[in-house]
Amino acid sequence: MKNRYFFLILIIFGLSLSSCVQDKNNPGYAYMGKHDMYYTKYYKAYSPNPVLPNGQTDQPAPVGSVARNQSYFPFHPKNIAEKVADQTKAGIELKNPIQPDAASLAEGKRQYGIFCADCHGVQGKGDGHLYTAKLFPAKPRDLTGSYVQNMPDGSIFFIITEGSISGLMGPHGVQVTPDNRWKIVNYLRTLVKK
Ligand code: HEC
Repeated sequence: MKNRYFFLILIIFGLSLSSCVQDKNNPGYAYMGKHDMYYTKYYKAYSPNPVLPNGQTDQPAPVGSVARNQSYFPFHPKNIAEKVADQTKAGIELKNPIQPDAASLAEGKRQYGIFCADCHGVQGKGDGHLYTAKLFPAKPRDLTGSYVQNMPDGSIFFIITEGSISGLMGPHGVQVTPDNRWKIVNYLRTLVKK
């Protein structure tokens, strides 16, 4: 009698060991594994899909969704009139999320030096090298003057992203990340005091 139990335990022990598989990518035997419960059939991202209305598996992001590390920017002006309206609207709707502390101002200064100073000058007076050396024909705006300093942060953020209304200053939305655009805006506020 005792022996029988011993063998039974030995068999169960053996079975439990045999279910351990060395291959880490193989989940081993699964109860009801033949059915779809463990190994779900699925559509690959780029395969056609008969279930979804547009026939594709990978769906476009919903309208208005904001990608990770991006900020809310609902403006896509198609002409000058829309750009004028959006620049004002951006000043009302967009809130600067970056605190102007020492670290973020230092980064704003660095970004300004990379992306803006060539035209606007190190001090922001509109006398950057590209202009004074006659390499860029249009007079860059004096960023320390009241025209820019009286703009809300959101409008300046809009100008960096989309360019100036006339288009003489091109858009920098592709080059400068949203957070860095806000840091530049904060840095511009410090230029006026100098
Ligand atoms: C290639 C030269 C150039 C660069 C680079 C440049 N700007 Fe400008 N910027 C201009 C010119 C020219 C104007 C005047 C635009 C106009 O009259 O439409 C201007 C105008 C502006 C204005 C005022 C908008 C207006 O309607 O006049 C702001 C604010 C501004 N720039 C900020 C920046 C910031 C911040 C950067 C860096 C991210 C930058 N600019 C980079 C040339 C440049």
